[in-house]
Amino acid sequence: MKPRILVVDDDESGRTLLSSKLEAEGYEVETAVNGREAIIKAGDTHPDLIMLDVMMPVMDGYETCRRLKSDEETRYIPVVMLTARSELEDKLMGLELGAEDYIVKPYSLVEVSARVRCLLRMRALQSRLRETEEMAALGAMVDGIAHEIRNPLTAIGGMARRLMEHETDPERKRHAETIIKSVERMERMMQRIDEYKGILSSRLSPGGIDDVIAGAVEEIMPVIDGKKITVKTELMPAPPLFSMDRTNLKIALFNILQNAVEAIENEGEITVRTFFAPAGDNTLLLEISDTGPGIDEEFLRKIFHPFQTSKMTGAGLGLTITYRIIQDHMGAIDVRSKKGEGTTFTIRFHLKPIATAPGQTVS
Ligand SMILES: Nc1ncnc2c1ncn2[C@@H]1O[C@H](COP(=O)(O)OP(=O)(O)O)[C@@H](O)[C@H]1O
Ligand SMILES: [Mg+2]
Repeated sequence: MKPRILVVDDDESGRTLLSSKLEAEGYEVETAVNGREAIIKAGDTHPDLIMLDVMMPVMDGYETCRRLKSDEETRYIPVVMLTARSELEDKLMGLELGAEDYIVKPYSLVEVSARVRCLLRMRALQSRLRETEEMAALGAMVDGIAHEIRNPLTAIGGMARRLMEHETDPERKRHAETIIKSVERMERMMQRIDEYKGILSSRLSPGGIDDVIAGAVEEIMPVIDGKKITVKTELMPAPPLFSMDRTNLKIALFNILQNAVEAIENEGEITVRTFFAPAGDNTLLLEISDTGPGIDEEFLRKIFHPFQTSKMTGAGLGLTITYRIIQDHMGAIDVRSKKGEGTTFTIRFHLKPIATAPGQTVS
């Protein structure tokens, strides 16, 4: 996804100049003409950064910044104040209200673009940190709830089965059956939670990504069942070995492939690619994309959270497990998707040279 920047300025020429510069650098740009409009747009479009002019009618930049920073939903979006005067009080005022940075007008576009890049980098790191914390908290909560539910659930299931055996009245028998079916659904959910807990720790040893991909693809074939889906692989030649838990990594990929198969209605294509990141920082990328129906933006933001599912029988834990496993590999996972345009999951492995040669043991 392109980073999204909200440019807020009442002056049309200033707004257009900045917007076109940022668009030329590959950002998605939204604009607002005053503070009130900015607050509404920030809540609706969730920009990654806000460039905020100070002197504006209706609501000035200071008040806008104060409001953005006091709302939980917009608090973490970095704000750059665009101040016309370079007086110290002006700068301090903005920073005190929670702005991350300020730029004095007239500004150089080169400086603006450098600061934007820096703030977006910071924002990405912060979101990842928050995401990790959120996932850990959710994981602990899921464990706690599962623990509390297990015993009562066994009791309900057991009693309903006894009722079912001894009941002769057909209507009451049907009621007992409904209870049993619901209990079974929850038991399946518990099973997934147990799987989730069982998977938490990955044991890393040197392994090759191609084997893992081949294993996951082989396991997905029977799942395709009746649909016309081709699975293509475009793998880089001789990828380096790296530290991995082969079993867990295969589960991680399988979960992504399974979702792709389930998402494609009748006919489509799934492509698995590996390649090195162009930046040359020894990052191996693994991409799994499908030609399915895509995912809407609202859902996409929570896709890795537990129990996020759009399926009647889904537990919504597949991608939570995948996320966890990738984290254990010190990797990162991202997803890009648009309604109607398919979905691409990208996994990044930051490779370090493996210290131990195969067969050698570390004492
Ligand atoms: N490739 C995809 N295309 C469309 N939707 C997807 C895709 N992958 C995941 N999703 C959505 O994300 C949800 C969560 O997936 P997951 O965590 O595996 O749980 P589950 O498969 O049990 O629903 C799915 O229910 C689906 O709505
Ligand atoms: Mg799934």
